[in-house]
Amino acid sequence: FEVDVDAADINKGAYPYYMLKEIDEQPAVIHRIQSAYLNKNEVQLNSNLMDKLTNASRIYIVGAGTSYHAGLVGKHLFEKIAQIPTEVVVSSEFAYDDPLIEQDAFFIFLSQSGETADSRQVLVRVNDEWKKPSLTITNVANSTLAREAEFSVTLEAGPEIAVASTKAYTAQIALEAIIATAIGRTKNFEMAQNLDIDLELSKVANAMQAVVDEKGRIEQVAVDNLSDTRNAFYIGRGLDYFVALEASLKLKEISYIQAEGFASGELKHGTIALIEKGTPVLGIITQPQTADNTRSNLQETKARGANVITIVSESLAQTEDTLIIPDVNPDFAPLVSVVVGQLMAYYATLQRGYNVDQPRNLAKSVTVE
Ligand code: G6P
Repeated sequence: FEVDVDAADINKGAYPYYMLKEIDEQPAVIHRIQSAYLNKNEVQLNSNLMDKLTNASRIYIVGAGTSYHAGLVGKHLFEKIAQIPTEVVVSSEFAYDDPLIEQDAFFIFLSQSGETADSRQVLVRVNDEWKKPSLTITNVANSTLAREAEFSVTLEAGPEIAVASTKAYTAQIALEAIIATAIGRTKNFEMAQNLDIDLELSKVANAMQAVVDEKGRIEQVAVDNLSDTRNAFYIGRGLDYFVALEASLKLKEISYIQAEGFASGELKHGTIALIEKGTPVLGIITQPQTADNTRSNLQETKARGANVITIVSESLAQTEDTLIIPDVNPDFAPLVSVVVGQLMAYYATLQRGYNVDQPRNLAKSVTVE
């Protein structure tokens, strides 16, 4: 097994951990994706792939772990920009399910490693049983999922060494955004035609850079609030909920804090019973249409003693907010808000004294079902 990478890429240099290096690389990864898949504002993708995607009546996004979370954001992008109904499925569930697959289905596999056995199991059914077109979006060009899918595109994220995935997640979302834009334009949808995807991604990269430049402040918040807590909750609505799932996965994976992400409107249906005096509740607020609702849900937790921490886009910010992140197009805000969650997990873990890159019980690539 040989990995074809530049030695400089797998050297962590002055960084104490790969995870921090990989978090910091994210703005550069976005720029690399822009150069690889965009020529100014024009999308450059295989025309055969584009034909099949454009004719799809339903897209299935298949993934596990962090890749599944990137798929949730992808569903929003494909439905909004490309206007194709999209389902996101956990590969270990879908592999053994009996779904009704419609005639013009198209399957997108998201996998950093391209080797996840559960996802491959779904691809085997796509090829042998359902006989549908497929695309693998992966960081490893010659991986099993890349070879066995009809089409593949690479994430251009460079090798990801830390077990907790960071830059692969944001790279996956950036590519989903580019592909959705390409489909929407082919279908002459106004929104896709008016979307300057190159400019939006440049804004995202700048905003990500501003977040990583503020890591000292995020470290302080992590140390003050997550050092000795037993549990923590991330909450949000819509895209902010999807980031809440990913941010809490990061936290549980490496810091071993029992962290969960919840749709903020669901709190009152059960989870709020878990709030005690001092329980950290991290609210993500980047979506204008749901900002007020999430704030009132946060208020409900505060009234029960929660220690509320907010991560808020600048234009929605209020004086008492904890961390303010730069505005970008709200459809792409997950790319920015997640960086706060990644850094929060990183610093909480450092403070608690665990190995950030190699958490217990976890593997970078899971090749058993
Ligand atoms: C493992 C890794 C996760 C990753 C998941 C899916 O559990 O620890 O970080 O998200 O596998 O991996 P993939 O390579 O398919 O994206």
